[in-house]
Formats: sequence, structure tokens, C-alpha cells
Amino acid sequence: MQPENPHLPFLLFLAVAAVAAGEAAASTTLTASPAKLTPSDHEIKIRWSGLPAPDGLDYVAIYSPPSSRDRDFIGYLFLNGSASWRDGHGELSLPRLPTLRAPYQFRLFRWPANEYSYHHIDHDRNPLPHGKHRVAVSGDVSVGDPARPEQVHLAFADGFDEMRVLFLCGDGGKRVVRYGLEKEDEKEWKEVGTEVTTYEQKHMCDTPANSSVGWRDPGFVFDGLMKGLEPERRYFYKVGSDVGGWSETYSFISRDSEANETNAFLFGDLGTYVPYNTYHRTQTESLSTVKWILRDIQALRDKPALISHIGDISYARGYSWVWDHFFSQVEPIAANTPYHVCIGNHEYDWPSQPWKPWWTAGIYGKDGGGECGIPYSVKFRMPGNSNLPTGNGGPDTRNLYYSFDSGVVHFVYMSTETNFVQDSEQYNFLKADLEKVNRTRTPFIVFQGHRPMHTTSEEARDAALKQQMLQHLEPLLVTYNVTLALWGHVHMYERFCPMKNSQCLNTSSSFQYSGAPVHLVIGMAGQDWQHTWQPRPDHPDVPIFPQPERSMYRGGEFGYTRLVATREKLTLMYVGNHDGQVHDMVEIFSGQVSSNSSVAKAVDGTKLSTGVSTVRKITPLYLEIGGSVLFALLLGFGFGFLVRRNKEAAQWTPVENEESLEMVNIEMVNNKYGQIGAE
Ligand SMILES: [Fe+2]
Repeated sequence: MQPENPHLPFLLFLAVAAVAAGEAAASTTLTASPAKLTPSDHEIKIRWSGLPAPDGLDYVAIYSPPSSRDRDFIGYLFLNGSASWRDGHGELSLPRLPTLRAPYQFRLFRWPANEYSYHHIDHDRNPLPHGKHRVAVSGDVSVGDPARPEQVHLAFADGFDEMRVLFLCGDGGKRVVRYGLEKEDEKEWKEVGTEVTTYEQKHMCDTPANSSVGWRDPGFVFDGLMKGLEPERRYFYKVGSDVGGWSETYSFISRDSEANETNAFLFGDLGTYVPYNTYHRTQTESLSTVKWILRDIQALRDKPALISHIGDISYARGYSWVWDHFFSQVEPIAANTPYHVCIGNHEYDWPSQPWKPWWTAGIYGKDGGGECGIPYSVKFRMPGNSNLPTGNGGPDTRNLYYSFDSGVVHFVYMSTETNFVQDSEQYNFLKADLEKVNRTRTPFIVFQGHRPMHTTSEEARDAALKQQMLQHLEPLLVTYNVTLALWGHVHMYERFCPMKNSQCLNTSSSFQYSGAPVHLVIGMAGQDWQHTWQPRPDHPDVPIFPQPERSMYRGGEFGYTRLVATREKLTLMYVGNHDGQVHDMVEIFSGQVSSNSSVAKAVDGTKLSTGVSTVRKITPLYLEIGGSVLFALLLGFGFGFLVRRNKEAAQWTPVENEESLEMVNIEMVNNKYGQIGAE
């Protein structure tokens, strides 16, 4: 008797599986519509039907371009996001996706539970779909026109009468910038040409940026410089060409070298919201940050402002399409207000980065996902000319260190990822720059970098780098009377007292400049992954790192900071995203007399002082403020017993009608990248 074939059960299983797969492939349909999104289409509908034996892990993967291999998806959605998925049919919707210079395509896959593997994981260690068992494929979906300019953003240039605009197109053909003072009179507008540049897959330094998973056509970046601008006027502009099409018309307020006030919005670690699952978690909270800043910019009406994003920008980390999402997301603020950046570890760090002294072991790693600063350097162009060769023939790293004046503040940006120690090019730049600041013109200096010189969260992290920064840079900050030192990297807010050698010179939140900068950590704009405050394993009775005297305020809420400065004083406020209100503030008096002290009052309804044009002494002001706050608290409690009113109405005094402003803002943001949730 012949022995039974030991492989028979397996062969039978394969046969049944093949028949089942064939049936599914034959009967399951997947559609995506519309096939071409017009400017008024805000979402893509994905529908499927005829899926036999649905399973909770079945998913639709998103591809662009359609020639991508099954395993090179850009993201995915589980079918169980549709209420009817158990019946083998359903519908999912995606908000309008950014133009990736190629159509999108959607594919339906099975993901059997026994193939759910912790050996194939995303950056948060969740199992990743493997792109096997394809069941159905949709038609292509085109979003926008790749020739039409997108991702428009402004930046200050070296001249006061200039404004730079960068934007992206799918081809490198001629594009121009047209700009003028009269919105309706385009015939009178000036026109300037643009420089165009891009980068290639071979320029990427590591995975995933240089692999088929992470790399996509980045398009062409155009750089136009608007010149000869009259001070503090609203200019209208658009970019593009008659052949490729034009952007919409945007506007901005030009710089004024004589301005006696400054408005700025500053934060680190914003990141990007992506409306699908991808290779790492994205930063949903970044939507709220952009929304509140948009509110504040609109409230300023015709006052100039700037945005400062101090490193860890998109968190693309080698997945190139995340940059496209990022620039689409910030366009509502960045196309109208200069958007300034400095480099963070997630734009840069890679194994063979050029400057890596021994003490950076364990600090400079692979956080850039192989981008090695190239997308950052091509997609932004900041003032100055700092640069460093990448070492692989690709574009140099630029935007490393630079400075500019805006109103009464001198803003300085540094790179914590490249050489900053004494006698380095960067150090020499920073020293010379701080040395020559005209304090009569700009009584305040705001110094910014990504990794913090001071934090009380995770003090052990990057400790050697902090030590080097304290040794080499803190003396510069103290010697040259820097007002504020702003840092990111730690994803929360923390304000220190004005410090020299980690010692407080003052513990008030309102004082005349006392000889050392106030350090703040402002990396709370969107990225999470952070211990609330570092646990202390060696102190079981104090499980959370205690707040030392020098740490004046710690906040775990997402948000950003708002800076308002007149010649007399600089105020920095921490705005929380859950209510858009001020949760902490510090005000520093310069000792100079302001010629326009109404600015702070107009912008900040919660301000403590009316900004009288006199130089104040610390003690009387402190007592005055303390007394006022105490009186206000007592009054507030009493009033609260009598009338239970909405907290928001009591605390935020908007310049414009808040309700109407909110509606405009939310509509603008929604138009840009879909619904933004509960607001
Ligand atoms: Fe960082």
C-alpha cells in the first residue's frame, strides 16, 4: 500500500486558497472617485463590494505613482473604518491629498491574522501590512495639476525691501513671481524670475530616503525674490506662468526697518498630519497649532509678523511625501507670513554626517531617515549664506545659522546639528553677529536652536551636547545680553528664570533685563512621544523629576508661543491648543521708552500691563502686578459665584469678533486639508 502523501493537506489548502483568491479577485471591485479632483473637490471616496469573508485586518493601501510595487505603499486604511465592512462592501473617504506629481491608486489587500508579524513593524513598533494578497485595484486618481505651483511659502531675505517666495511645481520650466500693491490692478504689478532646483534619489544618504519605500519624485523648487518693496505695505502676489498655470493670489505685509513693534509666533517640533496610517505616527495636533496661529495672524490685520519653527519640521524622516503634506498644511500661514526655520535632528542626522566628535556618540544617530539635510536645504532658503557640503555630490546643507532684524527684535538661528564649538565657522558667525547688534534699533535679541541648552525633562538625554553648549555658547548669550534663548527637541513647554551658570538672577515673570537670557523650551507644537516629566528611578519617593527653582513654569499642553515686542518691553506668551488661550507669560523691559505702546494691548487680551511709556523698577512693578492679579482673582471668584459664564468668553479678548473669525479660519484650514475635527 502506498503511503499517504504527507504534503496532501497542504496542497489541498493551496488549491482551496487559490480558488478563493481567484473568486475574490474576480468578484471584488474597488473604485476611487473622482478620477480627477477639481479645485472644489475636497475628498476622495473609496468604495468596495463583493469581498467574501471580510476580516478585520483587510485594508486599502494608497499608492503614488500607480507603477509602485505592492510593498511600496505610502499609507493604508483598514476596511473596518466603514460601518458595513462585515457585509463585504463599504466606503471610506480621504480628504484631498497633496499633489505628488503623479496620480494616486488604491489597492485592496487581505492581511490574514496569522501573518501579523512583529518582525515587520513601523516606527512605533506596530506591525506593518506586508503588501501581499492583493484582491482588487482602483482606477487612477489625479489630484490637481502638477504644472500648477503649490506649497507656497515666504521668508525674509537679506534686504529690508525684499521678500522671498518658494514654491513647488512638477516640472522645471520657467516660472515667475508677480507682485504689486493693488490687488485688482495686476497690469501694474512687477515681475521677477525664479531660480529652480531639485535633488535626486542618489543624493539621499540612507534608508528609507534612498529606497523605493521612501523616495518619490520631489518636484522642482522655485525661488523668487520680490524686491524694491515699500515698508509696511500689504503686497499681493502670485507665482507661476501662463503655460503651467498660476497660484491663487496671496498677500503679505512688507518689512519696515524703522518699525517699533514686533509680532512673532514661535515653536519647535510641529510635524505633519497625514490622514492615513503610514510608516510612523504623524502629528495630528499640528493641525490645531496651525489653526490658532492663523487666528492670531488674522487678528493682527495689517501688522507684519513672522513665524519661527525651530527644528524638527515635517518629521518626514525619509518618507518624502510627508514633506508635501507638510507644506500644504502650513500654506495658509506660510504663504502670507514669513516662515523661518532652523535645522533639527529629524532633518539631518545620518551615520556619516561630517561633524561627529567623540562626545556625540549616542546623540547624532539616524534621526533624519537618510535625508541628510537635503530636502530641508532645497525646500527652504533662509537669509545668509551658511552651508556645509553633504559629502555625496548632493546639494549642500544650508540654512544652518543666520540672523535678521524684525522691528525691535534681532532674531538669531543656530544649528545644534553641526559644529558650534569655539573657533568653528558657526561660533565665529554667532559671536560676530551678536557683537554688532544695534541695541538702540533692536533692544531685544531672541536666540534660537533646536536641541536645548537647558531642560528639566530627560536631563540625561543629550547631556554631553548640553554640556558643550553651556561651555561654548552660554558665555556668548550672557556677554551679549541675549533676551530670550528658545529651544525645541523636548516636546513640552518650560520657562526658566533669567540664568547665568544655571543660577537665577530673577524669579519674577515681569522684570527689567537682568543680565542673562530667559531660556524656554517650546517643542510642544505637535510631536508627542515624551515622558511628561522624566521619572526618577533612583528616587522612588519622588517618581517625577522635581521642578527645580530655576524652572518657573512647565506645561504639557500642545501649543505655541506668541511674541509681542515694543521698544519698551518684550512679552512672550504660551498659548495652549485646547482653548487657544494664554497659559504662561514673561515680560522683559528693555529700559528704553516705547513710541508705540498700544501694540501689546491690541493683540493680547490677557496682558498684565498697559505698557505705559516709562522705565519701571522691578519691585514696584512686581507688587503692582501681584496686587492687580490678586484683586482680579478675588473679583473673578466673586463674580463666578454670581454668574457661571463660559470661560473662553471671560479670558480671551479678541481684536475681531471671535465667532466670525473662527468660522473664517476653520473654513480656510478645512479647504486646505479637510475637516479638522471637533472645533
Ligand atoms: Fe529633535
